[in-house]
Amino acid sequence: MFSTRTPQDLTPNRLTDALNAAGAEGRAILDLTLSNPTRAGFEYPTGLLRLLADSRGLTYAPAPFGLPEARAAVARDYARRGFPATPERIALTASTSEAYGCLFKLLTDAGDEVLVPRPSYPLFDHLASLEQVTARPYALDLDAGWRIDFDSLEAAVTPRTRAILIVSPNNPTGSFVKPDEVQHLAELAAAHDLALVADEVFADYELTHGARAAAGRVMERDDILTFSLGGLSKSVGLPQVKLAWIAVAGPDDLVSRALERLEIICDTYLSVSTPVQIAAPELLERGAIVREQIARRVSVNYERLLRKAAAATPACRVLASEGGWSAILQVPSLESEEGLVVNLLNEDGVLVHPGYFFDFPRESYLVLSLLVSEAHFDDGTDRVLRRFACPVASHE
Ligand SMILES: Cc1ncc(COP(=O)(O)O)c(C=O)c1O
Repeated sequence: MFSTRTPQDLTPNRLTDALNAAGAEGRAILDLTLSNPTRAGFEYPTGLLRLLADSRGLTYAPAPFGLPEARAAVARDYARRGFPATPERIALTASTSEAYGCLFKLLTDAGDEVLVPRPSYPLFDHLASLEQVTARPYALDLDAGWRIDFDSLEAAVTPRTRAILIVSPNNPTGSFVKPDEVQHLAELAAAHDLALVADEVFADYELTHGARAAAGRVMERDDILTFSLGGLSKSVGLPQVKLAWIAVAGPDDLVSRALERLEIICDTYLSVSTPVQIAAPELLERGAIVREQIARRVSVNYERLLRKAAAATPACRVLASEGGWSAILQVPSLESEEGLVVNLLNEDGVLVHPGYFFDFPRESYLVLSLLVSEAHFDDGTDRVLRRFACPVASHE
């Protein structure tokens, strides 16, 4: 009766079972997987959502790509980050996930393929499979600071490949795609007639000073069809408001043809509410205060983890991260990642994600959310590190 677009095996994994059991027993868990900024103790400006009740929202004026003032506000936000974008080349969507759906409809037919970075954000497989597209992974090289392994990328290209996806900075590796990588990607995209889709939802969040400025600039490409994705959920910490966008760049003729087709897709759903479009300019402007709090939080937690892990135990290593909301801790391989995260949950009351959730090339990595309040992050990471701290033998 059911399509194969949704997973066939819906059995929960061991960590989900353990988490449900902890919940049923009422055990308090320190959640170091938090990705929801609205539950992380940030202060949102008073009345930030007041324009959602503006009476202009009572009039429905459907526009496939969104209202001009909302698209202009998004273009200004690109300008704030130093990128060229014109409102005419911006399409609004309800979320970045929906934006992927629109782009897969634009670029692929059933059975086509898109290339996705590995490790990365686990939703790609679902997003692709819901559109009957195969997400074929290409490797990011752990030992080279997560640079793109172009041999693996080229090997993944087939006659059915339609697009290369990049995430910059990537979730959870925190690596920005570099200018030479963007150049190489553009050459490959041109050679194989592929589009480039750049997920830049975390682009505002820098963990290594200068990493943002040194990143590759996809919005400046005029040689290949390029889509940059962003949204309020990360840029101003408002995932529940449901507004995201696609900005299109590339050769004029190709951009026009892509926009004509994208318009049909967006017009079919018209999924972005009028109130949120009316509120968008104010949300983007006043939300800057939330962005600053998030940026400070992730940076403080990251720096603290770096110092703490180095002092606590030589057995654990924090991988260098350039941006985003996560840190990666490499731990000794004393047990499987799954066993470790279940034991951390049951014995230490702390929830972390195992690297294999994100398709790390090998075990033993833990992914920790930097969004968590400083006090909880401190407590949670103490519990994790304590597990690996062994008394240092004295040779005196
Ligand atoms: C890299 C990346 N892209 C997109 C999204 C989804 O964003 P949205 O809430 O706009 O769908 C996430 C969510 O965690 C993400 O990590």
